[in-house]
Amino acid sequence: MHLSFLLSVFVFSCIFIFIIIVVVAGYKIIKKIGEGTFSEVVKTQSLKDGKFYACKTMKQTINSLEQANNLREVQAMKRLSPHANIIQLHELIFDKETGTVSLICELMEMNIYEYIQGRKTPLPDQTVKHYMYQLCKSLEHMHSCGIFHRDVKPENILIKQNVLKLGDFGSCRSVYSKPPHTEYISTRWYRAPECLLTDGYYSLKMDIWSAGCVFFEIMSLNPLFPGGNELDQVAKIHDVLGTPDQSLLQKFKQSRAMHFNFPPKKGTGISRLIPNCPAPALSLLYQMLAYDQDERITAETALSALDQKQTFNIS
Ligand SMILES: Nc1ncnc2c1ncn2[C@@H]1O[C@H](COP(=O)(O)OP(=O)(O)OP(=O)(O)O)[C@@H](O)[C@H]1O
Ligand SMILES: [Mg+2]
Repeated sequence: MHLSFLLSVFVFSCIFIFIIIVVVAGYKIIKKIGEGTFSEVVKTQSLKDGKFYACKTMKQTINSLEQANNLREVQAMKRLSPHANIIQLHELIFDKETGTVSLICELMEMNIYEYIQGRKTPLPDQTVKHYMYQLCKSLEHMHSCGIFHRDVKPENILIKQNVLKLGDFGSCRSVYSKPPHTEYISTRWYRAPECLLTDGYYSLKMDIWSAGCVFFEIMSLNPLFPGGNELDQVAKIHDVLGTPDQSLLQKFKQSRAMHFNFPPKKGTGISRLIPNCPAPALSLLYQMLAYDQDERITAETALSALDQKQTFNIS
């Protein structure tokens, strides 16, 4: 009895604090729409303008508004906006009492993972092309602003009808920061070879690799390299693309404390996994998935390839 009383007092105070935060901040919570490693995302309605927004509240607490403004994600969003294919930050809210920081962003309908999950029939070529074009636009913009994303994956790409916007800038980095980069990087399935095989000697081209994996996934509705662990990730890449030649492996080895040896292997190729893929789209896919980052296509060149009418035999 005593315990249940204490428990209800605790629950009511939590709800009270929560309501205070939301009302003081001027937003009404509608429902939870996403959960990431670092945050929880809810749909909210502004009490000021009546519009709906996504509210991303960080799990990590901080001490001041200045710290909130200095968050990598906030800085990146401010620098990159406005852009048609980048999630717009509407307002930043810092609650002094609890140390929580919330990013009020424009609301999208769903992420690409949710969009293709459970789908049986392939997306029309026109749709794939349109989404890939917008994804490459967002990357071209980011890279030209001197930022790379480091976590391009279906869950971080948001859509609303035909519009695609890149979100989740929590892992991004300046292209001018000197490698090796030591902190957490991208989700395993979308991780480029240079991220897997060097001790942090990667740069903006890693985003193009990840975008290539997404390209395959929205065409085939299956992940391209679903590795179970880091070693299996490399093996899955080699199964399809084959092992790289010795000179490239040598380049990787120079920046890796642990040495590795891969018995030469010829890959099965991508076309077997996606038989109906038009040749120009397949060629672009290969250029985005070039093992050597120096040979990998830039976002800008990928865009002009996507601009060509024949990429998908459509206009
Ligand atoms: N603006 C938005 N509109 C609609 N849904 C959103 C929006 N922003 C985020 N979401 C949803 O919430 C999920 C988590 O958001 P986000 O990826 O930004 O958080 P995170 O904690 O940084 O994630 P991660 O685990 O990838 O690091 C997204 O996958 C998406 O489904
Ligand atoms: Mg995310």
